[in-house]
Amino acid sequence: MTTARRKTAILISGRGSNMTALIAAAADTSYPAEIVLVLSNRPGAPGLDRAAAAGLPTLTVDHKAFPDRESFERAVDAALVAAGVELVCLAGFMRVLTPWFIARWAGRLINIHPSLMPSFRGLHTHERAIAEGVKIHGCTVHHVVPDVDAGPIVAQAAVPVLSDDTPDTLAARVLEAEHRLYPLALALVASGRAVVEDGRVRVAGDAASPALLSPN
Ligand code: GRF
Repeated sequence: MTTARRKTAILISGRGSNMTALIAAAADTSYPAEIVLVLSNRPGAPGLDRAAAAGLPTLTVDHKAFPDRESFERAVDAALVAAGVELVCLAGFMRVLTPWFIARWAGRLINIHPSLMPSFRGLHTHERAIAEGVKIHGCTVHHVVPDVDAGPIVAQAAVPVLSDDTPDTLAARVLEAEHRLYPLALALVASGRAVVEDGRVRVAGDAASPALLSPN
């Protein structure tokens, strides 16, 4: 018996390396999500070419063409609905979303952030992790809520911070972990194994396989 795969859109603004990792995972027809649309708010984002090369529908909704944030988001929302999208993955999408959009997609909207939340919300996470002298850093896939880089955590991956790391070397190590983590986290959400309960994500079966939550 085959189960329906959840129709998923990926929202990007740039190079789209996490998008590429999600597309690669979803190329397997047994993966519980199917990528049906890649949408960028930036015309010419390199990720758009990568998605088109993989044979996926792409769309640009240029935020600069809209008078305000909400009208931009209404256009994005209409495109998602038209494509039959059920789940949305933000992957380097550099627009803060309004409470209206977040409420509309609540529980179906996830993001990847390059830190072990709740540490280092915001920008320049690798530089700040080095400055603080932390020895473990990493990345988090979480549900999107109106607070930026907050929300119920689906899964996390950790990497060591080495004494000679620069923000670039640390970013590269975290990015490799991101590419393993995001496909795993989307699979948990799309399959219904990861469910938000009382503001936290409960993952069915994690006691038997803790690696579900952290692909280190
Ligand atoms: C990643 O580091 C992601 O964690 C952050 O933005 C970056 C996007 O990179 N949200 P890419 O476009 O997926 O290569």
